[in-house]
Amino acid sequence: MTTHKLLFLPGDGIGPEVAREAEKVLRLLAQAGAGRFETEHDLVGGAAIDAHGVPVTDATVNLAAEADAVLFGSVGGPKWAGVRYEHRPEAGLLRLRKDLGLFANLRPAICYPALASASSLKPEIVEGLDILIVRELTGGVYFGEPKEIVTLENGEKRAVDTQVYTTGEIDRIARVAFELARKRRNKVSSAEKHNVMKSGVLWKEVVARIHAADYADVELEHVLADNCAMQLVRRPKQYDVIVTDNLFGDILSDAAAMLTGSLGMLPSASLGAEDASGRRAALYEPVHGSAPDIAGQGLANPLAMIGSLAMALRYSLGMGGIADRVEEAVAKVLNAGLRTRDIAAPGQNALGTAEMGDAVCAALTPLLQ
Ligand code: NAD
Ligand code: IPM
Ligand code: MN
Repeated sequence: MTTHKLLFLPGDGIGPEVAREAEKVLRLLAQAGAGRFETEHDLVGGAAIDAHGVPVTDATVNLAAEADAVLFGSVGGPKWAGVRYEHRPEAGLLRLRKDLGLFANLRPAICYPALASASSLKPEIVEGLDILIVRELTGGVYFGEPKEIVTLENGEKRAVDTQVYTTGEIDRIARVAFELARKRRNKVSSAEKHNVMKSGVLWKEVVARIHAADYADVELEHVLADNCAMQLVRRPKQYDVIVTDNLFGDILSDAAAMLTGSLGMLPSASLGAEDASGRRAALYEPVHGSAPDIAGQGLANPLAMIGSLAMALRYSLGMGGIADRVEEAVAKVLNAGLRTRDIAAPGQNALGTAEMGDAVCAALTPLLQ
């Protein structure tokens, strides 16, 4: 049996709390003989700033590149509000994405039937929801140059961020979206703002060209990103795959998270390109952040992190069947009415982070026999 190398980067705030629960699930898989894993742990974000003065070290980036999959918790928090911009905790995550070439960020928003009433929308709007946001992750305004604040002659300051996309960057993310749509309900909605942005004009043009050339069997619609945000709240089930740029993808996926009941439910996979041997760098992380408001209290929902582990099993370790079992265990726990505070009904007795992890393990054990 292959031994899979996993690197845990728990990070800050609730990151280590939820990462611990994913590791619990991984240990159970190993004990049950479902797989063999070699795990390493390292610092990232504020934790790395405290230890090394930078939010990610070269050594950590190298470890991440060598791993079969990286499991990332979350970074950031008020403690590091004063550090130099270049060295803020979030810069550690951005460097990992860029240096590992993780251009394709898959953010599935699935509303488990048991959670339809936990959403802030009416249950009938979200019941059965299963959409996939494909977010471009290494380009756009996150990385475009110049990116600066300059002082003008009149003493005013001028801040600049630059939105940049090349045809190659749009081409490769569009292909990821079309390929994934073929395995789902065969529809891609491409969200941009071609009415305002040149990058949107090019985005629309390239997506349309790739579609006509290689994916004419997939239904394609172009949607303005602001309209897409509105439609996600109005009638989200019209979507299958949404492909969009780095910033719109960030915002649309947080909005989509609430359709599933909580930001604590949304996992994600960040994937690089396959090399000649079929290997690709990959990092798996919940969509949520370090949640400073609840950090250290054992209240965080670990299901987004556990879902991210399931995505790692599926996309990086060739263990799709086991990933299905993990997701089935999560569904069983939710069907049994077990809830962390973020998805609990008003007045309901909620589980803590570790108790939720234990509940998933208890539900998973019989599924592995
Ligand atoms: P956040 O996602 O940390 O929190 C937003 C709200 O959702 C909070 O009320 C929080 O308590 C709640 N929440 C988030 N995850 C939860 C979970 N698993 N269970 C229960 N409730 C949960 O976003 P924010 O407050 O805007 O950002 C806080 C810090 O996290 C910032 O420094 C930000 O840059 C960082 N951040 C990091 C990542 C990442 O590491 N990938 C992602 C987003 C934000
Ligand atoms: C996310 C986060 C990150 C982003 C931050 C922490 C850099 O919000 O992964 O959604 O904006 O991409
Ligand atoms: Mn975000």
